[in-house]
Amino acid sequence: MINDLWYKTAIVYCLSVATFMDADGDGIGDFQGLIGRLDYLQGLGITAIWLMPFQPSPHRDDGYDVADYYGVDPRYGTLGDFVEFTHGCKQRGIRVLIDLVVNHTSDQHPWFQQARQDPASPYRDWYVWSKTKPANAADGVVFPGVQKTTWTRDAKAGAYYFHRFYDFQPDLNTSNPAVQAEILKIMGFWLQLGVSGFRMDAAPFVIAAKGAAIKKPVEHYEMLRTFREFLQWRQGDAIILAEANVLPGEDMRYFGDTGDRVQMMFNFDVNQNLFYALATADTKPLITAMKATEPRPATGQWGLFLRNHDELDLGRLTKPQRQAVFDAFGPERNMQLYDRGIRRRLAPMLDGDRRRLELAYSLMLTLPGTPVLRYGDEIGMGEDLALPERNCARTPMQWSSEKMGGFTQSDKPVLPPVSFGAFGFQHVNVSSQRRDPNSFLNWTERVLRMRKELPEIGWGQFSIVKTSQASVLAVRYDWRGAAVVVVHNLSAIPGEVRFKLGLQDPEPGFLVNLLSDDHSKAEAGGKHCILLEAYGYRWFRIGGMDQLGHQKAIVQDRPGRR
Ligand code: NOJ
Repeated sequence: MINDLWYKTAIVYCLSVATFMDADGDGIGDFQGLIGRLDYLQGLGITAIWLMPFQPSPHRDDGYDVADYYGVDPRYGTLGDFVEFTHGCKQRGIRVLIDLVVNHTSDQHPWFQQARQDPASPYRDWYVWSKTKPANAADGVVFPGVQKTTWTRDAKAGAYYFHRFYDFQPDLNTSNPAVQAEILKIMGFWLQLGVSGFRMDAAPFVIAAKGAAIKKPVEHYEMLRTFREFLQWRQGDAIILAEANVLPGEDMRYFGDTGDRVQMMFNFDVNQNLFYALATADTKPLITAMKATEPRPATGQWGLFLRNHDELDLGRLTKPQRQAVFDAFGPERNMQLYDRGIRRRLAPMLDGDRRRLELAYSLMLTLPGTPVLRYGDEIGMGEDLALPERNCARTPMQWSSEKMGGFTQSDKPVLPPVSFGAFGFQHVNVSSQRRDPNSFLNWTERVLRMRKELPEIGWGQFSIVKTSQASVLAVRYDWRGAAVVVVHNLSAIPGEVRFKLGLQDPEPGFLVNLLSDDHSKAEAGGKHCILLEAYGYRWFRIGGMDQLGHQKAIVQDRPGRR
């Protein structure tokens, strides 16, 4: 039972084939290159890979403009290479999730081409049309500053088509049963080739009613149930991880009250407030976000992340909060994007400060949910702000100090590796860090190993432990008679922190430090007193363990038990 819900205790690693490793020397990453790096990923300790889009595409939105859902872009290899890849992952116990981009297609997709050319084509109704330009065409653009409208006229069709994102990404009419059937077919296809699930791109837009007459978005949540049911029939352990940046109250509509919709969602609310906490050492809004996103069905799970391939979206913070994050992590205009976020990589945002990087990673690994790492963050890669929009944080993986960071033999890489400053591949690369026992890479490997031994975090109930310092966040997890408490000092000021764990604990007076030797014995009144360094963190198991810090007994599986 515990392991059947594999995503509850997974460590996900997100990467783009295009920028990970180039095997054939054409400057573009490919599946053969990625296959050659699977041992590296297994060694790092991740248990699932989330692949960004790799299907044939004109690549005007980094592959999020799909031109054929049933193929592999020839730049990356063939379907045969893809199956070699999923097989290689399976051999190493690594699951594969792929992006499912079905809110829209590329305008080059044959469906759209037929739809625009022929009003009688069955594909006409696969898209969303209007004879005239809707009055609200300027509302709801996703990329303000770059995108001006959500309705664009197509001369061939003699009509306007709806596009939530860029104009080369016409929205599919997802209310059309034929489109829904096609979405299931796409999922079925990739399941057959070895994937364990899908990151559903732009989930709220996929399930929204679309059309010129729609004034306020109405979501058809039951579509999510249809997708889930299909997956369960085809492959019982397959999941959907929804990209849905929605308000906390709406989460349950995505999970479903009985857990009958998506299995996972990214926790955008915690993400934004986590960055606010890192910027200001004020933990209160983060605690509020954690509590607001606490309700979820027993089978539901959050995806916890720091940075991803998009901008760090701070749109849900208050104006002063957002400004505080901008001031701390992206003060220059060029570092900000779409009037709401920061387009930088994590390490430069934190000035490459190892203490803050460990703190951020430690938080990502111990906040409620399943951690989702971004490639390159395990070595502290930086960005190239000379590249446009989000591309600045999508540069090639830095494998070594060789030419092109060891990513390719070609002189014309798909994007230039970062080759300047403190984050250039000459200084920041896998090859040198794997030889250095104290490197960030080896630190990451060690904490991932320990994180995998803490099923309490993925499965358990969390509670906030009151501490004597407002800048120290202490979170406790309880699960099947075992418990852990993780403590993080968000501030630059070292100091003593005191807290008391409830009497119901197993041996509450003794905390075993899981990452080093300084265990904690409670004082006479039952309080623990921990001396935390600036940005210090501790992972403790609360009593009841053997000398290795393992819990002594795992309570037997019982169906339906959390
Ligand atoms: C969300 C993806 O994360 C982003 O990169 C993309 O541009 C949009 N969806 C459109 O597909």
